[in-house]
Amino acid sequence: MFVSTDIEDGILVITINNAPVNALGAAVRSGIVEALDMVERDPSIKAVVLTGAGKLFSAGADIKEFGKTLIKPYLPDVLSRLENSKVITVAAVNGQSLGGGLETALSCRYRVASRWAMMGLPEVKLGLIPGAGGTQRLPRLIGIKEAAAMITSGKPINAMKAVEIGLVDAVAENDVVETAVSFAREKMKTQERRPLAAIEKPFDWDPDWLEEYKVKLINHSRGQESPIRALEAVRATGELSFVDGLKREREIFSDCMKSPQRRGLIHSFFAERAAKKVLFLEGSLPAQVDTIGIIGAGTMGVGIAIACAAGGFKVSIVDSNADVLSAGINRILQSFQRDLAKGRITEADANILGSRVTAMASIDALTDADLIIEAVVEKMDVKKAVFSRLDRIAKPTAIFASNTSYLNIDEIAAATNRPASVIGMHFFSPANIMRLLEIIRTKEASHEALATAVTVGTKLNKINVLAGVCDGFIGNRILKKYRLQADYLVEDGAMPSDVDRVMREFGFAMGPFQVSDLAGLDIGWHNRRREDSIRDPRERYVPIADKLYELDRLGQKTGAGWYQYTPGDRTPQIDPVVEEVIRAESSRKNITRRPVDDTEIRERIIFAMINEGAKILEEGIASRALDIDLVLVHGYGFPAYRGGPMFYANELGLEKVLKKVQKFERDDPFAWSPSELLVECVREKRDVLERV
Ligand code: 3HC
Repeated sequence: MFVSTDIEDGILVITINNAPVNALGAAVRSGIVEALDMVERDPSIKAVVLTGAGKLFSAGADIKEFGKTLIKPYLPDVLSRLENSKVITVAAVNGQSLGGGLETALSCRYRVASRWAMMGLPEVKLGLIPGAGGTQRLPRLIGIKEAAAMITSGKPINAMKAVEIGLVDAVAENDVVETAVSFAREKMKTQERRPLAAIEKPFDWDPDWLEEYKVKLINHSRGQESPIRALEAVRATGELSFVDGLKREREIFSDCMKSPQRRGLIHSFFAERAAKKVLFLEGSLPAQVDTIGIIGAGTMGVGIAIACAAGGFKVSIVDSNADVLSAGINRILQSFQRDLAKGRITEADANILGSRVTAMASIDALTDADLIIEAVVEKMDVKKAVFSRLDRIAKPTAIFASNTSYLNIDEIAAATNRPASVIGMHFFSPANIMRLLEIIRTKEASHEALATAVTVGTKLNKINVLAGVCDGFIGNRILKKYRLQADYLVEDGAMPSDVDRVMREFGFAMGPFQVSDLAGLDIGWHNRRREDSIRDPRERYVPIADKLYELDRLGQKTGAGWYQYTPGDRTPQIDPVVEEVIRAESSRKNITRRPVDDTEIRERIIFAMINEGAKILEEGIASRALDIDLVLVHGYGFPAYRGGPMFYANELGLEKVLKKVQKFERDDPFAWSPSELLVECVREKRDVLERV
């Protein structure tokens, strides 16, 4: 039974019951229509209360139906029936009400929400726009400004905000359905409110404001089309009748449904869900974790500590340097105070979070920790010393994780007598904000240790991706190829600003040289020195970044790097000095600089990422292509609307990608040796880059 009904004293309670998220699939839509038929037939029914079973009201349209032939009744028609019902309709919004779920609530005459209900129209995050009247009804209810913000950001709001802006009529103190039933009885005594469709236009209709908003939106969307298309539909509320506005909304919705961006974003949506299911770990029992020890109170250690405290764990943070430790603790407590000041948490929450964190002066105090995460400097000998000390003091069941970004964790594990308990947990900075967590599967890692990392990661609200041991794991290994191509392009004839612009146009927030200026050129310099002893002599080496480093151009922090900056302004400005260094370097290597067009820049960088991703897959460092996509999208700013590099490769066509890789290989065989998996997929005419 996807929709159940219950009549109580003249009020029909309709409950959507489609676990796990009450999606509005065909059976639910039919169920609602049948319930509305009951209302037509039975004159004793005086009001309808519509709610969802379980914790949610409804997560909206059934995403699994997208791309298939739609089955009648269509949601807009169902909602039009609901809106035109001859009796009072009240949505009892018991929990999340998203997309088509909120559109359903908007088609009721009134809305009562539980205190924990969240309401939003997240369609733009799927590359779509609301397609069942949301863009037409919401602005008529709460005004164009609030509605445009909700619709174009896709961000949900809580019940308190919803009541403040008039999206809901009341917040239930107790049972939301009972409150909605009483509310309906009250309203039966008064004159009925007009349906939203009867309102001519939003009360704050302002085309000039919309124009300004659109300009800002275009600047923020980095090439993503759906927010701008959604605004186009919102605009119709002031320019067209309700009926024509609905038609306009539907046309735009259908356009978006056919777009590659929609495919990329839906891929990202399902990839995130798939990340929760690590097949080979199914059935493995994670260890019980109450206390997490963190070694190192620098930026990473502090971020990890904040995330762990917020995830409900007791945290013991250690640093042998007393000043670093006390500064670290202060930063942790300040972060909770900031959340309090911004209204994200209550004072009681801030106190609880603060009480979870304890500072410890020595590793030797970590005897009780169930999981110990090391975040000290990236030096093998230092890490080995830490792990060997841990081995002596930690309890036998403790699990050890290194937060290294590059180092060989098998070697670190070998410094202990319990290598099966040693894994990697590679957080991204700021660790309390970035959602990605690479969990590194060492050679001897036990399933229990890995399952524990996955369970802890999930409690920290991370997207867990399992990776094998190799230099840079998934993300930094691919990033290296990206960076190398950027440097080669500059030495061949492009300028950093060309490369950065093309990557921004592709959808990255920043290009590689801007990122380098932000991070500091010293970071890359230290990395290259680390690689000096292991770099393959066949690898083309571009020393331009070293030259800038030697000129003390460390990026934004010194006011100059790949660009120059005026004090207090982070806008990169082209610097003739850098162009001089670049030209001199090309000439020193006898490279005749040539015009490099945007297509070449884009293809060399993105195809290098794809080829490396395919090698990572082929070697089993990643077990699924979607894991690589998740890493690049959530850790490295690859545009989610392109799905990630592996999905993007499938969209382009693997044959096209391989042909280009082979063409580039003729100029630089070492950088461009094609992945065997890519070659195999093309040979066997497989259209998806995946290990089988
Ligand atoms: N349709 C179909 N399946 C859905 C779904 C939906 N709208 N939303 C979630 N699911 C599935 C997930 O794929 C997952 O399936 P799995 O167990 O097989 O992997 C399962 O429901 C549970 O989802 P989560 O793991 O995400 O559960 P959470 O509790 O973490 O989150 C949620 C719940 C906040 C509702 C989250 O699932 C979510 O954000 N869903 C998408 C909401 C959305 O984007 N709605 C708009 C849809 S488009 C639309 O309505 C168009 C309309 O305007 C016409």
